[in-house]
Amino acid sequence: MSHLGMALRRLCALSVALLWGCLASTSHRKAVAPPQDLQITDPGLLGSLDVEWKPPPNVQTVSDCTVRYKFEYRNTGDRDWKVIFTRKLKFRVGFDLSRTAEVKVQTLLEGQCTNDMEVQSDWIYATFQVPLQGKLESEVQNFHCIYHDWEYLKCTWQPGLLAPRGVHYGLYYWYEGLDRAAQCDDYIQDHGINIGCMLQNLSQAEYKDLSICVNGSAAATLLRPLYVTLRLHNLAKPSPPKHLVVSMSASEELHVAWSPPGGETPPQCLEYEVQLTEDARGTKAAWASVSTQMETALTISRANQSRISCVRVRGRTNIFCADQGFWSEWTQECFSVSRKEDKQLFILIPLILSLSSSLMVFMLIGQCKKRSPAGKPLHASVGC
Ligand SMILES: *[C@@H]1O[C@H](CO)[C@@H](O)[C@H](O)[C@H]1NC(C)=O
Ligand SMILES: *[C@@H]1O[C@H](CO)[C@@H](O)[C@H](O)[C@H]1NC(C)=O
Ligand SMILES: *[C@@H]1O[C@H](CO)[C@@H](O)[C@H](O)[C@H]1NC(C)=O
Repeated sequence: MSHLGMALRRLCALSVALLWGCLASTSHRKAVAPPQDLQITDPGLLGSLDVEWKPPPNVQTVSDCTVRYKFEYRNTGDRDWKVIFTRKLKFRVGFDLSRTAEVKVQTLLEGQCTNDMEVQSDWIYATFQVPLQGKLESEVQNFHCIYHDWEYLKCTWQPGLLAPRGVHYGLYYWYEGLDRAAQCDDYIQDHGINIGCMLQNLSQAEYKDLSICVNGSAAATLLRPLYVTLRLHNLAKPSPPKHLVVSMSASEELHVAWSPPGGETPPQCLEYEVQLTEDARGTKAAWASVSTQMETALTISRANQSRISCVRVRGRTNIFCADQGFWSEWTQECFSVSRKEDKQLFILIPLILSLSSSLMVFMLIGQCKKRSPAGKPLHASVGC
């Protein structure tokens, strides 16, 4: 009864306009009670929690109205709540377990019994926090992961500041589809301490939340576990593009073409950056970014007719497949411009040199009776 009174009082306090509606509503049983027994349980999946509640009392008797729930959740410290409208009584949702999980639910009633107006109950609240053992400074530091070629995930970390001797770290992970959390079976070690992990065969985890926990144990000390939730597609780093080919047309335009990198990277998920440098003799020329695009070929008109030019290309996940990603390393091709006179000169000079050198060697052999092996540089022969 006090619920009802309070709900009504709140509704009525809103405004004069609402007051009008409230007066009409008292005769129509317009108020509704909040759900009951809101509970949060941890199924041990490193981030997902089960939230459930029971319907408000007496709601089954309301036959001409629809009962729904507005379920909201967040981690303490988040500005916004995530909102779900539902008729279900149970949800599994993801949290950052290193912070407190907060949930709230209210009943929504709508239909003939409310004159087709939506009536909201008060909220009920619940919170959850995994037991946070150990000091915060004992948590591992600089935790980073990269999803290489959409083939394997490599995560690395550094021991916590308060990590005692003989500490042993473990990485556990879970994504929707696994029965339970699994432990890494391929650790990266430094002086016998686990400082990283390689995870293969994660294609089933792509475009889902991947929950990870790095915890540790040491003889007498409790260590603070680290919880993170990753999305693999936002951590992808492709290999460099392959088969970079640069050719020049008669009109002095550069035609640049390459192939998508190998591995499991979906080719349609890539964008590329192409850069060109035209050597300003001796000085290190700046790279001019020519283009960022999805195609694997590009024509560039050359601004400067210098002799040596380099083109380099790198790739990364495009906005159609991810919010972010890592650039690949560059693949680079340098070439000298084949203007006709240059080319002839390039062939002639070595020819003259080798002719004259064999002549000299020929003459020297007679004098010092030591033969220079074929192909040995000129100065070596002269030195005998
Ligand atoms: C890869 O993971 C799937 C489950 O996602 C499993 O059925 C399969 O055996 C795994 N393959 C390897 C080679 O580990
Ligand atoms: C680390 O976390 C896993 C998964 O929750 C758990 O099974 C294991 O006992 C924990 N280890 C330590 C040392 O806390
Ligand atoms: C061409 O040379 C000029 C100066 O020599 C330089 O400022 C410019 O960046 C060069 N263009 C390219 C595409 O390298």
